[in-house]
Amino acid sequence: MTDAQRLVRPALDELVPYEPGKPIEEVQRELGLERVVKLASNEGPHGPFPAALAALERTARQLNRYPDGGAYRLRTALAERLGVAFEQVAPGAGADGVVDCAAQALLDPGDEIVCGWPSFPSYVIDARKLGAVPRTVPLRDHRYDLEAMLAAVGPRTKIVYVCYPNNPTGTMNSRTELEAYFEEVPEHVLTVVDQAYFEYVADPDYTDAVEWLKAGCRVLVLRTFSKIYGLAGLRVGYGIGPADLVTALGKVRRAFDVSSPAQEAALASLGDDEELARRRALNEEGRSVIEAVLRDRHEVAGPAVANFVYAEVGDGGAVFDALLRRGVIVRPLGAFGAPSAIRVTVGTPEENAVFAEALAGLSLVR
Ligand SMILES: Cc1ncc(COP(=O)(O)O)c(C=O)c1O
Repeated sequence: MTDAQRLVRPALDELVPYEPGKPIEEVQRELGLERVVKLASNEGPHGPFPAALAALERTARQLNRYPDGGAYRLRTALAERLGVAFEQVAPGAGADGVVDCAAQALLDPGDEIVCGWPSFPSYVIDARKLGAVPRTVPLRDHRYDLEAMLAAVGPRTKIVYVCYPNNPTGTMNSRTELEAYFEEVPEHVLTVVDQAYFEYVADPDYTDAVEWLKAGCRVLVLRTFSKIYGLAGLRVGYGIGPADLVTALGKVRRAFDVSSPAQEAALASLGDDEELARRRALNEEGRSVIEAVLRDRHEVAGPAVANFVYAEVGDGGAVFDALLRRGVIVRPLGAFGAPSAIRVTVGTPEENAVFAEALAGLSLVR
């Protein structure tokens, strides 16, 4: 054991560092491909909103200043739109930053979190970093099994994560299932309802989880500007929850975690409902294309309601490699707990067509 290894907390022993995907340019160079499309990270394909681009230009001149650590204007605007108090809005470096703050604020070594699995890995990773114990509950029919999750709640459970819709399967629970869950969940638990894909979902049964907060449930709702708003590179998201919890999240968040360009671009993105609707519609069209080509050869999870599609392909790593060689980067799902599956993000119509063509060429892995 090296000196450095001796210094590192044992809680980190089991953790595998995040392995970033290769940049598009690197894949192009390595494989000698002219065109590479990335449908791997559930980013929106359309770039920032026009008003956000203008705001970014303005803020560029003031980058000598630190950001507003309290994100005052962004929080005020969000609170107003959501009909909650300013004190109930927690800004974060992406929704992921809020997951990190929630874990830091709530979890002592030996405490537990419950989440469905396969699901968004940060819930598990952030708990493990702190020496807390993740209880992962298998999905049922590719959907969160809320009854089984309630059964996994114990006296040391601090957080239950409900990924709504779930990444990577793209599926959601019904309103009735969630209502039954909130009836049953014990008082000592914080439920984090992760609505990172909120703006994409058109299903009439899909519920704005802030409703449950307003009804008095102990819930933290997560949202982000990384997806439909096209600001993934800036890292800005937020949580909406009880004021005392938001205060606690503020204690563990780094002072300047949300940069000023991120705050300004997020703020400028709010209110363009026309652009939101346009992107939602384009996404639905693209998603049906991706679903159809995948369903031709594989079992597809559904109904998929967000901007990605999950398919059982046998060996996710092999299909990932084969598609990569044809210039399409998708997500193999080993790290999400689903090594037999891939997840494909909806791209632009052109990108979706490239994917369809690449998949059709994979006769070997049919
Ligand atoms: C379910 C879910 N939650 C949270 C995030 C984090 O998003 P961000 O940190 O970019 O806001 C993602 C990103 O892929 C996600 O899929």
